[in-house]
Amino acid sequence: MCGIFGCILKDQNAAPVIHTALKRLEYRGYDSVGEATVHDGKLYIKKDQGKIDEVHLTRNLDDLPGNLGIGHTRWATHGAPLEVNAHPHSDCSGQIAVAHNGIVENFAELKAELENRGHVFRSKTDTEVIVHLIEDVLKNNPALSLTEAVLESARKLDGSYSIAVISAKEPDKIVCARKESPLVIGIGENAIYCASDIPAFLPLTNKAVIVDDGELVAISLKGWEIRKISDGAPVTREIKVIDWAPEMAVKQGYPHFMLKEIHEQPTCLRNTLRLQEHYLDLMSTFLDRAREVFLIACGTSYHACLGASYMFSKLAFLATYPVIASEFIEQHGKSVSVDSAILAVSQSGETADTLASVNAARQRAATILGLTNVIGSTLTRVSRVYIGQQSGPEIGVAATKTFTSQLSVLAELALRLAKKRGKVSQDEMDYLADKLKRLPDIVETIIRTQEAKIRELAKKYKDAKTFFFLGRGISTATAYEGRLKLMEIAYVPAIAFPAGESKHGPISLVEQGFPVIFICPKDETHKTLIGNIMEMKARGASIITIVEEDDEEVKRLSDDYVEIPKGVPDVLSPIPFVIPLQLFAYYMAVERGHNPDMPRNLAKSVTVK
Ligand code: AGP
Repeated sequence: MCGIFGCILKDQNAAPVIHTALKRLEYRGYDSVGEATVHDGKLYIKKDQGKIDEVHLTRNLDDLPGNLGIGHTRWATHGAPLEVNAHPHSDCSGQIAVAHNGIVENFAELKAELENRGHVFRSKTDTEVIVHLIEDVLKNNPALSLTEAVLESARKLDGSYSIAVISAKEPDKIVCARKESPLVIGIGENAIYCASDIPAFLPLTNKAVIVDDGELVAISLKGWEIRKISDGAPVTREIKVIDWAPEMAVKQGYPHFMLKEIHEQPTCLRNTLRLQEHYLDLMSTFLDRAREVFLIACGTSYHACLGASYMFSKLAFLATYPVIASEFIEQHGKSVSVDSAILAVSQSGETADTLASVNAARQRAATILGLTNVIGSTLTRVSRVYIGQQSGPEIGVAATKTFTSQLSVLAELALRLAKKRGKVSQDEMDYLADKLKRLPDIVETIIRTQEAKIRELAKKYKDAKTFFFLGRGISTATAYEGRLKLMEIAYVPAIAFPAGESKHGPISLVEQGFPVIFICPKDETHKTLIGNIMEMKARGASIITIVEEDDEEVKRLSDDYVEIPKGVPDVLSPIPFVIPLQLFAYYMAVERGHNPDMPRNLAKSVTVK
């Protein structure tokens, strides 16, 4: 997720306005920043890696001439956070510049075609193909306007994008286009703006025009013109008056970043499904070659590893060992060797416990693989191969969207491994790949249809002293994650363990009204789990179930239940089944008067051991 902004001002320099607007978009990405303006027939660009304030200090982002320009604050997905990869990107002629938020899925083939036609690329980004594409279209059709050239180029892009394009040859216009990534226009007095999000221009104007998916818009001081990208048909759109306070606007109207990020998961999962095949294949090769595979992480990322161990075993018949990072050296430090593969999973890529384990394994020549959300983080630098999960910045301290994205990537790895090892047929592969692709819609349905009910559950149980979170099989990982969420943001002591363990001790805690949350997909564990529900029920527990929508048997046994659309394969079930648990923890925190975004005693990235 990145932030783009553009503006055309009647009597003002654009650069300082762009700089301030990018600061308001910093929550969308902050590993590099840049601006481009047009003045007297020339294009001016300033950009560098680093946070906005750091780059401004060294490069002075306000010092660019011209009343028209664009800017970008980056969250790297393709290409490390370096000056050369920062946006805006310009074409060979240095006349056109583009800022982009999204992922161009077909950038590799477009880049090859453009290079064959003589275009010279400077960066490792997917974005750069866009500006060379526009240049190429104009080279072949010099009579075309910038608007027409962007229209023709956008039709060739697969994936997601929200772009702002300027040209020294058309110094009075900014052309924008969007597919999936957000784009809004701000209508000011003697000024017009384009941005990823309303907060970028809300202090300057509360009049916005929302650009819909698949639309292009050309803006100038004369107004704006919206067209459908598919056929160029003109579109009319009313101005909306935004009544958010700026603080709310940064959260797009959500009361907390955590709730916004829970709701963002369908989009994040779609982005995570756009990973480059090459990295998934390469990583699965290293996993396949290893004598043993350790999955190392902390907290929520560890729960993703726990879920992944079931995926690798069930799909690829590969035993993998999920290990809590702070225990790894004690537990396995001496057994690691050149034949070991370490898959370290870390949203921040900076967790000290995880990095310490990775370093210890590196010293014993193990192969280090990384899965992270932060390109350019330490984990990406110490990994032989890493995958960026493309979830965008996660501002809430509690991991939500990054957890389901991690699981999605790990499921893709398990599928590739299964194919490589001949453990699944192509039909099974296609079936599971199709189910994975449908998960964003399923998550969307859960949030839309169950959120109100979950909020009521939080009101009902807000004074409960503790909870059990129980599951069997891969749902054990979901249970652990639901428990962590409730503990870390609602401060409710909770216990999670495999449901089969109840009779080996924990069940002694159960008394009348003791709330027990069961995660029960209709998988191979379903029947046995019903037995576990009965044993709790017999002791007076309040039974709360996360259950498939047609599971009447479990619903009858439940005091309360939350429904999940049916038909999700067991190996993918943690992704939809965790959503109600994230929402439950969030609303319990709100009901108990806590700020879910800033839980006490916690930091987003634990860089101390
Ligand atoms: C999750 O909600 C917590 N914030 C915490 O457990 C986190 O998952 C853990 O610290 C690991 O962080 P990482 O993924 O950045 O390595």
